[in-house]
Amino acid sequence: MSVYLFAKELIRNSGAFIRNRMEESFQVESKSNPNDLVTTVDLETEQYIRAKIKEIYPEHNIVGEEYEADIVDSKSGYLWIIDPIDGTLNFVHQRENFAISIGIYKDGEPYAGLILDVMKDKLVSAEVGKGAFVNDEKLETVKTSHLSDSLVGISHKWLIREDIKAPLIEIVKECRSPRSLGSAALEYAQLIEGRIEAAMFFRLSPWDFSGGKIIGNEVGIITTDFLGRQNNWLEQTSVLATNAVLQKEITDIIKKDDGFILAHDTFHNIHKSDL
Ligand code: IPD
Ligand code: CA
Ligand code: CA
Ligand code: CA
Repeated sequence: MSVYLFAKELIRNSGAFIRNRMEESFQVESKSNPNDLVTTVDLETEQYIRAKIKEIYPEHNIVGEEYEADIVDSKSGYLWIIDPIDGTLNFVHQRENFAISIGIYKDGEPYAGLILDVMKDKLVSAEVGKGAFVNDEKLETVKTSHLSDSLVGISHKWLIREDIKAPLIEIVKECRSPRSLGSAALEYAQLIEGRIEAAMFFRLSPWDFSGGKIIGNEVGIITTDFLGRQNNWLEQTSVLATNAVLQKEITDIIKKDDGFILAHDTFHNIHKSDL
């Protein structure tokens, strides 16, 4: 069995693990602030996924949200980047609209991505070079679009930050309508299926977007930071994912705003000399 087929089976089984586990009680705790929640189900699911990988592939490296990462030599062997529950707030409040997200790299190159909408048991996945699928149905390349006819995924939280809000408000004004789902991975899945045209996140961690980035690339979705630069896929970064035409329109609006660029790069500790 290929690593990709193993990963498909694993993510489906992990979804079933969560659905069963939800029938019992679980604890909810705060991490960095009162709105940053983690549950015992997040922790147990990551342990479940890690154990299943290590059982078959002890030499593979794993980076996940909830536990210390393996020491990663990002250039050799397999690296799994895992979010056991993406959209923990939805998991706690809504009991739906959350996902398991997996990105797999092989010898430093993207190999496969998988996003499972857990309550719908709906899988969006891709092995690099072989196209993207929703369950067993192959997806077409996304259509290009302009801001005026596009739905754009963006969180309201970033629109109320004084130092970055100006170009983001312009984007919200100019687009057909904004959307906010509360799970970066599920927003990527919507983008890949052509249900929204762009998704913007001012700050994501690798496990939030590595699966989506790899799958999206198979259907013409380009992932960069807000200024159109390549993301460092092992660090926190802003993420803009969209088609080529809209990517230029959005980054053109953002790049006009020197204040935004300064605030963005200070926030992400990017300095011109590092680029
Ligand atoms: C969060 C979700 C959310 C995004 C946050 C992420 P988590 O992941 O993807 O949509 O806005 O930045 O941290 O914590 O629920 O796995
Ligand atoms: Ca979290
Ligand atoms: Ca996440
Ligand atoms: Ca998570």
